[in-house]
Amino acid sequence: MGFIDIHTHILYGVDDGSQSLKMSLQMLELAIERGTTDIFLTPHFNLFVRQNTPVLTRPIFKEISEAAASLPINLYLGNEMRVDSKSMKAIKNNDFNTLNNTEYLLIDFPFSLFVGDPLTKLLKIKELHDKIILAHPERHSYTRSLSLMKQFKEAGILLQVNATSLSGEHGTESEDFAHEIIRERLVDFVASDAHNLTNRPPSLQGAYQIVKNQHGEEMADNLFKKNASQLIG
Ligand SMILES: [Fe+2]
Repeated sequence: MGFIDIHTHILYGVDDGSQSLKMSLQMLELAIERGTTDIFLTPHFNLFVRQNTPVLTRPIFKEISEAAASLPINLYLGNEMRVDSKSMKAIKNNDFNTLNNTEYLLIDFPFSLFVGDPLTKLLKIKELHDKIILAHPERHSYTRSLSLMKQFKEAGILLQVNATSLSGEHGTESEDFAHEIIRERLVDFVASDAHNLTNRPPSLQGAYQIVKNQHGEEMADNLFKKNASQLIG
């Protein structure tokens, strides 16, 4: 089994990720080269970028899927829902893409100042939609707390760490915290959160080796392959 990447910005022209069909196909080719066999296209859905609803995203997903039909990689649609008012409204109205039409919703916190308590906020979202995967908690100063991560897990919230955090590309605080929560067995997935071909590529290979070396092969296989297999079943 190859890598399953549950978080990328390969759907073109809709956010700060891929900007063209050509770029999307190049990103898919790079992912294949680095050992990925299954990949989720999860455009942002938030106040500031765009509300990438199913009506807007499905035709582009179909176009990319058709153009990539001969490539040895399976494509799935999703969204990365930001914790904000627009996303909340869409979740309430079911006007967004879950991951591959499963019950799972990928969500992230704002990078600008967040007002409120992260746990209370996610519990509120869970009332609307029970199955939540939180993207890159290691990247936000206000979620870099081991006790908060334990509370998330106890509430049944799944955690996804970025591959680039594990290799130190988002700074040592993100790197250290990502490894700490893996060591504590709190993480469920590692994904690329790919935005381009250069500094944020769709590559899980390097991070897989890092996790294998530091946390063992079984953990690496769980985080990069096995746990996500339930989303593509
Ligand atoms: Fe993302």
